[in-house]
Amino acid sequence: MDTILITGANRGLGLEFVRQYAADDWRVLACCRQVSAELDALEKSLSTVAVYPLDVVDHDMIDRLSRGLAEDAIDVLLNNAGTMGSSSFAEHGIDAQRFGELDYDDWAQIMRVNVFAPVRMAEAFLPQVLAGTQKKIVTLTSMVGSMNLNTQGGLYAYRSSKAAVNSVMRSMAIDLADRGVLAIAIHPGWARTAMGGDSAPVDPVDAVRGVRRVISNLTPDDLGKVIGYDGEELPY
Ligand SMILES: NC(=O)c1ccc[n+]([C@@H]2O[C@H](COP(=O)([O-])OP(=O)(O)OC[C@H]3O[C@@H](n4cnc5c(N)ncnc54)[C@H](OP(=O)(O)O)[C@@H]3O)[C@@H](O)[C@H]2O)c1
Repeated sequence: MDTILITGANRGLGLEFVRQYAADDWRVLACCRQVSAELDALEKSLSTVAVYPLDVVDHDMIDRLSRGLAEDAIDVLLNNAGTMGSSSFAEHGIDAQRFGELDYDDWAQIMRVNVFAPVRMAEAFLPQVLAGTQKKIVTLTSMVGSMNLNTQGGLYAYRSSKAAVNSVMRSMAIDLADRGVLAIAIHPGWARTAMGGDSAPVDPVDAVRGVRRVISNLTPDDLGKVIGYDGEELPY
């Protein structure tokens, strides 16, 4: 049985990842700050789903969880947890983080969640990933992190965090390749979650199905790429 560890597993895409991987007979280590009723129900009904408390900005907590799971092999480490901080893309689109109105404390928190946490998780859980069969480390990025696709400006904090995480995932891919690890950033599509908003075109079920397909088809040839949920490579 393959094992996946998912951060931010209580709602949005994270919860849908738990549902789909569990339905596909994976063992799911579902990590979150606060358990939702939906995740609680999944844990209670399925012996293969286990919930662990985790705030990804708390590095001591990450280390404690890694020590607690020291004997576990993890096939896929999925850094799903992400934030737009106090701004709402769902309400304001790219006007959410405008030049001249930036909240730098908020921006720092966005960087801690979207950039530092995926790297810290990878550092802490590398032994478990190396013990797995698939050896994949995946971080959810966004197409708004692409320099080439940025023609509208705005969204300073979130854009820069996703551009930064693309950069660190590329370094990680290169650094860990000789140990057989596939590290990659995947864009899940603009999906209807609290973050994406009601007008997003992609159903979260399809977003997660697409990302799962990309994860399952990853090969060493994908080293350093950013890939969309439809399997297409995105420009940096
Ligand atoms: N939806 C989209 O259109 C879209 C597009 C591109 C990329 N993405 C990316 O896809 C991922 C999932 O997005 P989503 O749409 O599902 O967002 P969402 O509905 O807003 O859910 C965000 C998840 O991240 C968790 N999280 C935030 N800060 C955390 C922290 N410090 N520690 C642990 N968990 C934390 C949240 O937990 P709490 O409930 O505790 O806050 C929640 O589970 C994110 O990385 C996002 O940037 C989404």
